[in-house]
Order: sequence, then C-alpha cells, then structure tokens
Amino acid sequence: MNANDIRELKEQALAEAAAAGTAEALEAVRIRYLGRKGRLPEIMQHLKAIPPEERPLAGRYANELKQTLGETLAARKAALEAAGGARSRAPFDPTLPGAWRPAGSRHPVTQIIDEAIRIFHGLGFTVADGPDVETEWHNFDALNTPADHPSRDTQDTFWLGDGTLLRTQTSPVQIRVMERQPPPIRIIAPGRCYRRDTTDATHSANFHQIEGLYVDREVSLADLKGDITHFARQMMGADVKVRFRPHFFPFTEPSVEYDFSCHMCRGKGCRVCKQSGWIEISGAGLVNPRVFEQVRIDPEAFAGYAFGMGVERIAMIKFGIEDIRLLYENDVRFLEPFA
Ligand code: DAH
Repeated sequence: MNANDIRELKEQALAEAAAAGTAEALEAVRIRYLGRKGRLPEIMQHLKAIPPEERPLAGRYANELKQTLGETLAARKAALEAAGGARSRAPFDPTLPGAWRPAGSRHPVTQIIDEAIRIFHGLGFTVADGPDVETEWHNFDALNTPADHPSRDTQDTFWLGDGTLLRTQTSPVQIRVMERQPPPIRIIAPGRCYRRDTTDATHSANFHQIEGLYVDREVSLADLKGDITHFARQMMGADVKVRFRPHFFPFTEPSVEYDFSCHMCRGKGCRVCKQSGWIEISGAGLVNPRVFEQVRIDPEAFAGYAFGMGVERIAMIKFGIEDIRLLYENDVRFLEPFA
C-alpha cells in the first residue's frame, strides 16, 4: 500500500457515501471505513511500513479520508432526513386499527367529593374553599379550641412556625366563610387535611374532609339530622341508617358523632365495621355561640349547624376498600375498576 492507494481508497469511500440512499446504507459506509475494524484503522497500522519519503503524503491522505468522509456522511444524513420524512415512511394504511390511548378516570376520592357536592347542591349548598396552610387562629382559636387542647399538640399537628400550620381539619373554612359573608350561609368545603398520624390501614397523615355549615335565623338539630340522613341515603343507598351519638367538639354545642350503618354487611356485623354494624363518619353539632362571636355574627339572632365528613371513610365503605393506603398508591390495577 502506498500514498496513491490511500488517495484512491478515499475517493472510493466518498463516492460510496454520495451514492448511499438510506440511513442504513450511510451507516454501512461509515462502519466499512471508519469503524473499529474498518479500512482507516488498517491504513494507520500500515503507515509505519511506508517509506519515510512517502509517509507524510500517505498520512495526509489518511487524515483526509477520516475528516472528509466524516463530514460527507453527516451532510448526507441530514439531507436524507430533510428530504425523506413522511415520504420514506410506509404509506398510510386506513385499515389498520387506530393507536389505543388508555383513558384516565376520576379517583375514588374525587368521585365521593363530586357526588357529595351534587347531593348538597340539591339542598341549596355551594362550595367554599380555604388554604391548606392555615393560621393557628383559624384552625384552633376561632373554633373555640383552647390553647391546652390535645389536638394542638405537636404530635398531632404539623406546625410550620410563625403561627401557621397545615390544617388538621376543614373546619377553619367555616371561619373564613363567616368572616366574609353574612348569613344566610349554606356551604360545604371539601379539602385536604393533615395530621401527624402514623400510616396504617385506616390512618393517613394526609386525608380529605368535607365540612358543612348552615347558618340562618332558625336552624336546629332536626335540620342537621334531616340533611345528613338525606345525604347518607343518596350516597350509600336508600336502606342506609344513620345514628347520632352525643359527643364533644369545642366548636359545636351540643355536639354529636354520627355513624352510617355498615354498607358491607348491611348492619349485621363484619370485619369492616368491627362487628358493630356501624361505621363512624365524623362529628357535627350546632355552631357554638362563642364561634359566632369570633366572626361577629350575633348568636342571639342566628343559629347554625356544622358537620365534618371523612371522605376516605365514605369511599372505603361505599366501595369496600379495606386499606386506606390503596387510595394513595395510585396503582392503576387498583384504580381501573373505578373508571
Ligand atoms: N373537625 C372535626 C374533626 O376533624 C369534625 C367536625 C366535628 C366538624 C364537628 C364539624 C363539627 O363541623 O361540627 O374531627
């Protein structure tokens, strides 16, 4: 092999690159000449054997082969891509089945919230909203929750400093609505709540509640019972029973906790309801006059009821979900049946 052979090889390589009509053909040329076992490495090996006088020229041709061929290949490739595009693809076949894109669906928690909004809408309620990062005042003080109340404990509340926290309940939305709107008030407020709970089958540090608030001249416990019972029947089915038990909440007086009869066993007793036949949903009561005072609503002139609801609770008993964590793992195999 001499300098002239190398020059000829270079010209041949360039001619092959110019003739290549597809990306595959270009790649074959590249491999043949510039690849690890191609002609160029072979030439480089050979340079030592070329007589010293001829060696500089041979080296120049070898370098040109490398450089010019590389450039030509890149330019050809770009030109092919620009010109090819749609034309190089297979012609459109209208008989092929279309591309299948899986459709999303609403999460079970969202489904319960949407359904609750629909039901309460029918009772004249609108939807209110409040921030997840709340002030201590809205989440506790204004709700008549004393400074030494256990729920303020750092074990239960995510404190953020500067008198702010992640709301532990949707009840502060009651305060926000009453601050800005005179009665009559009829709102529900769905939203996320946060507590420093250790996660297990029935607890999550992040969950949802729906708050309800009805304030007018004459509101009684009978209104509360009637509306909650209506909600339960719409949500769970006409045969559901609702039970109210006396309880204590700082923001209501009197206060109750309320239960739905177990949807899984129809009240007979099963694992989900721990054999009691009842599932606790949340608390409710008549708005405490001290709460009205905080938001400058006259407790002599107005009365109100308020309630909370655990959304995951309702989703679990309505859909028969035995572990709350399933609602947060977003495993599509779990979610698909709710589509
Ligand atoms: N905020 C309470 C909780 O998280 C639930 C609740 C109880 C809400 C009574 C209310 C109520 O509006 O009146 O446990």
